Amino acid sequence: HQLADESVSSETLLQSPLQLQQGHNLPLPPQLYGAQRRNSAGLDLAEAETRDTLGDALTTLPVVVVQMDEAGKVEPAMQRARAAFPAWAARPVDERAAMLQAAAERLELGLPRFAALLVQEARKCWPDAIAEVRETIDFLRYYANEALRLQAPQAMPGPTGERNTLQLRARGVWVAISPWNFPLAIFTGQIAAALVTGNCVVAKPAEQTPRVATEMLSLLHAAGVPTSVLQMLHGTGETVGAALVAHPGVDGVVFTGSTSVAKGIQRALAARDGPIVPLIAETGGINAMLVDASALPEQVADAVLQSAFRSAGQRCSALRLLCLHEGIAARVLELVVGAASELRAGDPADFATDVGPLIDSEAFINVKRHIGRLRERGRVLLAPSVPAQPHHLVAAHVFEISNVADATHEIFGPVLQVVRWKGDPAAVIDAINALGYGLTLGIHTRIDRRAAALAARSRAGNVYVNRNMIGAVVGVQPFGGEALSGTGPKAGGPHYLLRFCSEQVVTINT
Ligand code: NAD
Ligand code: ALA
Repeated sequence: HQLADESVSSETLLQSPLQLQQGHNLPLPPQLYGAQRRNSAGLDLAEAETRDTLGDALTTLPVVVVQMDEAGKVEPAMQRARAAFPAWAARPVDERAAMLQAAAERLELGLPRFAALLVQEARKCWPDAIAEVRETIDFLRYYANEALRLQAPQAMPGPTGERNTLQLRARGVWVAISPWNFPLAIFTGQIAAALVTGNCVVAKPAEQTPRVATEMLSLLHAAGVPTSVLQMLHGTGETVGAALVAHPGVDGVVFTGSTSVAKGIQRALAARDGPIVPLIAETGGINAMLVDASALPEQVADAVLQSAFRSAGQRCSALRLLCLHEGIAARVLELVVGAASELRAGDPADFATDVGPLIDSEAFINVKRHIGRLRERGRVLLAPSVPAQPHHLVAAHVFEISNVADATHEIFGPVLQVVRWKGDPAAVIDAINALGYGLTLGIHTRIDRRAAALAARSRAGNVYVNRNMIGAVVGVQPFGGEALSGTGPKAGGPHYLLRFCSEQVVTINT
């Protein structure tokens, strides 16, 4: 069992892809597992100290009651944001970027507290909670630097006697709607991108995780962002979210969540009076991993365990459908099912927990319903029962199904479906594409040309070869999909900020 590595700062990480991979993706951070500092009980001292700090942060969190249903505040919030916009957009980008950097500093210092909040409210296990705080720091720093890179007016080539200049401009007021499964990183990433490009923001966090959002909002305000420029309203999607989207003063919506809600927002924006408003939507996926007969079974098994069961499968990037060549299927399944049966489902605050709880009873009922369906229609490979209460626990499950096309739903929990294939792997990729999503894909093969050809054939936005397929790193693996998985651009990538801007060209006859 593991703690994420806190000794590598986000700043260092941004400079070194290798370290980034280690910091964010490896289950066992090597720095915490050095054998050099053990106490008499054999526990690594750095690990023990880290546990104490985190445990203290968790037990000292005060109880805070967040007022929900703030639909009545939509109108005043929008008016306030619109009034604040001209002055905010006119401020030098350096000032806005400095505020993001200041927020990153504060968050780095507050890591134990924010990680504890994520454990308590979002029910994350410690490694996921720590990794999310660090990802948030990375977003703040990356977008701050990107804004500085993009700010300069760009001279365009033109005829003699004319000067043409292209300049990015803020669009106005953005509504930012975020999910509970990354209530800090996605919430902050959306806001940071909109703010640093000169927009005002009215944010609506997920109703399951209001407290993480409230604390982060305070931190951003303390870092210098004016309260009129960044506001937040709590409530359900159907009330506050829908009212915000329908408001005629909105200039853009950035949304991360389910595909069905994204489509609803797209329809609502189209039906609204006023200008055509851009929507940035990052949604779900039925993500597959294709394994051919040349793959290394142990490597595959490790990648499957990480991808399917970490975060209790509550990641949009998580592996849902494992496509095994029949020549290797028996060996891989032996390893996967054997190891998955050893995973411990339990309290997220317990350092020994591998598979934490589902977010709430609605999610629990939904995942259980899918498990019931798979029990009837698939072959059960692993279906242990664990006491569901008090944590809404579901242990790691594995089912074999007949065809790729039978994976009809994004099951947002620790449930892996397996299909066997033979013949042409390109046909498997075509079947995966036909599911309609395009978020992540894993490929395991030792044949380089095949990996490249399959990646090119896939519509997935993020393809991972011979490794796990979760934990995209800001600035290294820009993240996001297409088709039913979203509109792009990729979060944490060089084109993200552009979508929060409009462009103006000024032509001067000299
Ligand atoms: P959700 O769509 O139910 O809710 C997301 C947000 O939308 C919440 O804040 C919710 O209150 C709001 N909302 C709901 N109905 C609304 C409406 N009618 N109008 C405006 N806002 C509304 O999703 P969720 O259950 O919170 O999150 C899980 C989903 O998010 C999964 O499908 C997952 O794949 C996806 N996700 C995608 C990414 C990505 O980057 N692609 C990242 C994380 C999660
Ligand atoms: N960006 C997150 C991941 O890659 C969702 O797992």
